[in-house]
Amino acid sequence: MIIAVDGPTASGKGTIAKALAAHFGLPHLDTGLLYRAVGRQVSLNGGNPDDPGDALAACAFPDSLLDDPELRSEATGGLASRVSIHPAVRQALYERQRHFATQPGGAVLDGRDIGTVIAPEAEAKLFVVASVSARAERRFKEMQAQGRAVALAEIAADLEARDQRDRTRSEAPLTAAQDAVLLDTSDLGREEAIAAAIRIVERQAGRPA
Ligand code: C5P
Repeated sequence: MIIAVDGPTASGKGTIAKALAAHFGLPHLDTGLLYRAVGRQVSLNGGNPDDPGDALAACAFPDSLLDDPELRSEATGGLASRVSIHPAVRQALYERQRHFATQPGGAVLDGRDIGTVIAPEAEAKLFVVASVSARAERRFKEMQAQGRAVALAEIAADLEARDQRDRTRSEAPLTAAQDAVLLDTSDLGREEAIAAAIRIVERQAGRPA
């Protein structure tokens, strides 16, 4: 079974995807990490994330970069969203994601275009959303826990800028697949959101083809 979990930044999709993978015994790929690695590699190369050539060159990042804690920073998230608009970058990362999705037994992938582009045939598709204030609050707490000091208003502004860029890009914009089920986590705690996601997947996986 392929499970596609899409949605905007800090909507809870990563947590949900990981929990679904554990629940259903499937491998999990956080596809945002690939775009973050490209963004980080551009910056290490001294390149420009808005330049398609520089961004494409950075797709040859070493696998060891995926363990770099800097990938989780807001700054790298911003770079990721800039490199991800280039069609050549999306193409370069396509095979790796497609290969993961189609492995025997299935997989859980989370990102922006899993249900629409990477695995449109996925048996279960969730589109996870949450209000900007709920998402900013979560990110704020995460950053506080990591000892990083950032203003809540700044986080909210960054989230909105990133959403805007992800939704309006011409290639694979952030949008729910027609057959995705919307899950709004604004008012749900972690465990409630996970339980709701499991119910949705069970329903979708059990539906007639
Ligand atoms: O999910 P995460 O915040 O780690 O993703 C970072 C950025 O990578 C997103 O803002 C988006 O621009 C890009 N991305 C994408 N397609 C995916 C996953 C992430 O364009 N499947």
